[in-house]
Amino acid sequence: MKEPRLVKFQRHENEQFSDFIKKLELQAVETAEERMPLYLKVGLKDASIVLDVGCGSGIVTRDIAHLTKGKVIGIDESSDMIRVAQKVLNRYRNVSLTVGKAEKLPFPDNVFDICVCNLLLMWAQHPAYVVSEMARVTKRGGKVLASLEPDYGGKLHYPEHAKVDSIFAGKAICDKGGDPHIGRKLRCLFVQAGLKTEVGIGNNRIWSCAEDKSYYLHARDFYVNALKHAGLTQKEIDEWEFSFLRSLDEGIQLNFFPQFYAIGAKP
Ligand SMILES: C[S@@+](CC[C@H](N)C(=O)[O-])C[C@H]1O[C@@H](n2cnc3c(N)ncnc32)[C@H](O)[C@@H]1O
Repeated sequence: MKEPRLVKFQRHENEQFSDFIKKLELQAVETAEERMPLYLKVGLKDASIVLDVGCGSGIVTRDIAHLTKGKVIGIDESSDMIRVAQKVLNRYRNVSLTVGKAEKLPFPDNVFDICVCNLLLMWAQHPAYVVSEMARVTKRGGKVLASLEPDYGGKLHYPEHAKVDSIFAGKAICDKGGDPHIGRKLRCLFVQAGLKTEVGIGNNRIWSCAEDKSYYLHARDFYVNALKHAGLTQKEIDEWEFSFLRSLDEGIQLNFFPQFYAIGAKP
């Protein structure tokens, strides 16, 4: 029997959502070594109340909940994400989760010791409002941290691939409504929110080919879908994937793109 269109569409949406969750999971594991020093630097250990804005599936929130003795609140605009996060965090008594917009945080002024976001500003429609809201709800003397905000303009890799490179150098992000150049804007966003600001690059290590391969294979559906969405044929995708994986197996592929962080102290 032919599958009805709506069911097919929903199945496609569900597959994309679970691909995205898989990508977030792996990303959280692979970036823990970059995020942990930042959490320690802003004083997460001794905080009594922390807000994780754009908490997504809660994998990063779980790292935060491990590191602090305080209470952690996670907020995300997507109720689907919050449902996943509730499962991921159901054994954590110090965490509570809520649905809400980062541009209009449902909290009074000056309540959180630390307000963090990971990989959010790139996806937020109004990043300037988000940072100023994060600054508003943070206590005086508290800290705002944005971690892992990439800048695809600084993406380097070799061997190159004429057709696919431009897609992964930002086009796929733009098509999904993200800002591939958010990294370079962090200082401006934080300073304009009235924060005493420090910016830096979080990832200063080049991954090995084995790490790149394992990341790619785990999140493969996400990348293949992005290429399909950009209009590549299955044959073109197969050819690219074959040469990409071969270069990783030969140990010659190098990939790097800078991921910035900003720490803002609220005066
Ligand atoms: C790339 S995910 C990152 C999730 C999580 N922070 C992590 O690192 O695993 C971005 C998340 O931000 C959420 N988001 C995007 N714009 C938002 C907004 N304006 N307000 C609240 N959440 C937002 C999305 O729903 C998504 O869950």
